Amino acid sequence: MPQSVTDKALQSLTEWWSDMGVDVADPMPGTRQAPGAARVTPPMAAPAAPAAPAPAPTGTTPSRRRPGRPRPLEDWIEDARRLSAAATDMASLKTAIEGFEGSPLKSLCEKTVVCDGVVGAPVMVIGEGPGAEEDRQGLPFVGPAGQLLDKMLGAIGLDRTTNVFITNVNYWRPPGNLNPDPDELAVCRPFLDRMVDLGAPKLILAMGGVAAKSLLDTRTGIMRLRGQEAVFQTPAGTTAPLIPLFHPAYLLRRPQDKSRSWRDLLLARARLDALGVAT
Ligand code: URA
Repeated sequence: MPQSVTDKALQSLTEWWSDMGVDVADPMPGTRQAPGAARVTPPMAAPAAPAAPAPAPTGTTPSRRRPGRPRPLEDWIEDARRLSAAATDMASLKTAIEGFEGSPLKSLCEKTVVCDGVVGAPVMVIGEGPGAEEDRQGLPFVGPAGQLLDKMLGAIGLDRTTNVFITNVNYWRPPGNLNPDPDELAVCRPFLDRMVDLGAPKLILAMGGVAAKSLLDTRTGIMRLRGQEAVFQTPAGTTAPLIPLFHPAYLLRRPQDKSRSWRDLLLARARLDALGVAT
């Protein structure tokens, strides 16, 4: 039997709560427990987070820029602006991004990863950039972090097949999954701004510090950005409320922060309700 939207949301919510350490087992076989009635058990001691890689000493980070690159960054950004402005719909914008040669990352990866989901959806999820699996498939958030993202969205009635559009602040996988650098983000930005103009989302969810800091043009980290709403504005004047969330890859490494993430998701859900966005 096909699952209703409510059933799907309940299933995602249940999986999400169970991932968080909330005991949501059926009290009686054959009955469904209301989320509010879930018994909360103390989460298991969280596994120690893996040690962060030591930062490279200043000045020694290998450059991903091609030696002797003939054009200055500003020219590439200007190209990106011109191509974006000429794109009149999401399909032509995607084609323009795929044909763009201004990111030094492009020659180092397999695929250009542009977007997934529903064009014109009320919610736009914006992540950091493709990882290994995304680079293989050419779609955003399809690896382990993407699976957790789908559960997070499902828990608040969102789904990339019905009401969510997904993209990233960078379209090409950096080698070794390093963070994209400011120049790499700068050449993508006109495309992303145009995506927001064309998609006109009612709410943007920024996944993780790299995306949130880049979108809000701030140095403030995700720990301080999360839990409150900001406003995103494109140069063309499109605005949308933006809620920064922990990145699902971070939550996979630090499951003890899922309860904070759950509060942020509820904030997003409340905002959607206030905007009249149904599940
Ligand atoms: N992480 C991201 O931020 N985006 C993806 O598309 C995949 C993983």
